Amino acid sequence: MRANILLAIESSCDDSSASIIINGEVKSNVTATQEVHKEYGGVVPEVASRSHEVNIIPVVAKAISIAGIAKNDIQAVGVTRGPGLLGSLIVGLSFAKGFALANDIPLIEVNHMQAHILAHFAEKPFPEFPFLCLTVSGGHTQIVLVKDYHEMEVIGQTLDDAAGEAFDKSGKMMGLDYPAGPIIDKLAKEGKAIYEFGIPKIENLDFSFSGLKTSIRYFLRDRIKENPDFIEQEKENICCSIQTSIVNILMAKLKRAAKETGISEIAIAGGVSANSFLRTELERCGLKHGWTTYIPKFEYCTDNAAMIGISAYYKFLVKDFANQEITPAARLKF
Ligand code: KG4
Ligand code: ZN
Repeated sequence: MRANILLAIESSCDDSSASIIINGEVKSNVTATQEVHKEYGGVVPEVASRSHEVNIIPVVAKAISIAGIAKNDIQAVGVTRGPGLLGSLIVGLSFAKGFALANDIPLIEVNHMQAHILAHFAEKPFPEFPFLCLTVSGGHTQIVLVKDYHEMEVIGQTLDDAAGEAFDKSGKMMGLDYPAGPIIDKLAKEGKAIYEFGIPKIENLDFSFSGLKTSIRYFLRDRIKENPDFIEQEKENICCSIQTSIVNILMAKLKRAAKETGISEIAIAGGVSANSFLRTELERCGLKHGWTTYIPKFEYCTDNAAMIGISAYYKFLVKDFANQEITPAARLKF
């Protein structure tokens, strides 16, 4: 049988990424991360789309070369249609459409959030359907009931900030670089969770991080009044306290979702799933509650094209192709 070779493109935020998937296996996954946003303390959409334009062709060329294939071997191109920044999505989608048209191959549209979840099918062991996935990124926080590769239901989501945003905004208040999530994770390893912040009281499976953010803001303001060097002297303990609060909020809802649905196959996905405390907490709860847990490899946590390629592969198998008229969708739903 002829090998099934797909090219995948991801450009929804500030990472330009391309991947080659052969028979459902990742053969290359090349990402150009845009460092330029650090100066601004967050992603500047216009700068991001311009950087994608510069990066997209070299990233695709490298992914093809690492996989050791020829451009003509590619049988379909998968691409993120949304959700994400419109200007960033346009670059990847336009490139993918052009590539599909020029090579006379099908185009496959992929939902970025579903792709974070399907990243779990990049490497065995695969989760068994149905499973629950806590999907936590810079823009989203969701608990998803995953029924199969194509059918997913969001059963809980954030009412305000995303978990990644909670990390990034708290870090910004402390004067840390963007994205602050990984920096907080690193500093927290040297500290203790000695400070307590507001915990939201929401009855269902939804999340809220705005109260926590306000609580951190006032806490820092009051402590700095007493001691102007408070953040510098206490940064490890502050980071550990912030991280513990965010992870506790996430885990409380995940436990509740597992209990309510009776599902014990539990996964995490998205940029924040790289967080070391979330990873250990998931394992600890897994042992305690008899869950089978799935934690992605670091390279598949943050944005990458391999997850787009894996999602495209399962759509390719059922010939779920897109037409050339599709447009990017900043708020694409499931
Ligand atoms: O999924 P992702 O790469 O991009 C989006 O689709 O948003 O997620 C990026 C988010 C950022 O908010 C970043 O701070 C957070 O993931 N993040 C982390 C860690 N690594 C990345 N948050 C906490 N701990 C980490 N180790
Ligand atoms: Zn993402």
